[in-house]
Amino acid sequence: MTDRSPRTPVTLENLRAAARVLHASRCPVVLTGAGISKESGIPTFRDALDGLWAQYDPQQLATPGAFRRNPKLVWDWYTYRRELLAQAQPNPGHRALVELERLLGCLVVITQNVDGLHQAAGSSDVIALHGDIRRNKCFANCQGDPTLIDLSTLDWDRASGPPRCPHCGAPVRPDVVWFEEALPAAALERAFRVCENADVALVVGTSGIVQPAASLPFVAKERGAFVIEVNPAPSAITAIADWSFAGAAGEVLPRLVTALAEWETHEP
Ligand code: APR
Repeated sequence: MTDRSPRTPVTLENLRAAARVLHASRCPVVLTGAGISKESGIPTFRDALDGLWAQYDPQQLATPGAFRRNPKLVWDWYTYRRELLAQAQPNPGHRALVELERLLGCLVVITQNVDGLHQAAGSSDVIALHGDIRRNKCFANCQGDPTLIDLSTLDWDRASGPPRCPHCGAPVRPDVVWFEEALPAAALERAFRVCENADVALVVGTSGIVQPAASLPFVAKERGAFVIEVNPAPSAITAIADWSFAGAAGEVLPRLVTALAEWETHEP
């Protein structure tokens, strides 16, 4: 009998049971958070920030008010994160989701991450709820929301902080969702719609704390979806998970996908 305790041991039997559920799925959805990028060298939000940024709390930097008060500090933090990201590659967890999409024929990945690593790995249908750190926009969105700005067309003193919008002179900011800001309406509406119709929700590497993204697994569960979690630690999602595999995404997801591929090869 497969283990139904709050945390599920990552055994072959349990992975095969989860693979059978995925195999039978008509419309699975994956929901990811910062944990899936940890093995690409990207610190999670609840990790203590290292080095220069250890003294700052992301929730004190990633806000419109912080940017208004000190645009250079916030801009430099994003420059640091973009430099981290420039070294980062998709890890086996990201790549396993690409293989899962190939095996299942369709897979929507709803991510809270702004690092673009799902897209870089090859996932073809990614809903990026919190934007994309690789893009920039006018802080005033003077030409419409978003007024995207291509930094390569601008020349400015990088020591002074962010460049100015070439249209209106407002500071340029990363095209990400900050605390106190609304998520992109079309992305959020589609994410809820996909979760309302999902029959399996694979939740990977999120603490399940930040709304409205944290509601999505509960929406899927309420509509009868099977919830499978992958996280080394318990999260706010663990209590509603049918299986909560206690392990790292880069280790568990490849084994889950292998179990699915073997099942499909040897299906009785
Ligand atoms: N594999 C899977 N999960 C992992 C791994 C790993 N290798 N390492 C850590 N985790 C888990 C942690 O146990 C934690 O539950 O990843 C989760 C990371 O949680 P958070 O840091 O809270 O990140 P996330 O849930 O994505 O935060 C949501 O909060 O700060 C805002 O906008 C920001 O998108 C972010 C949102």
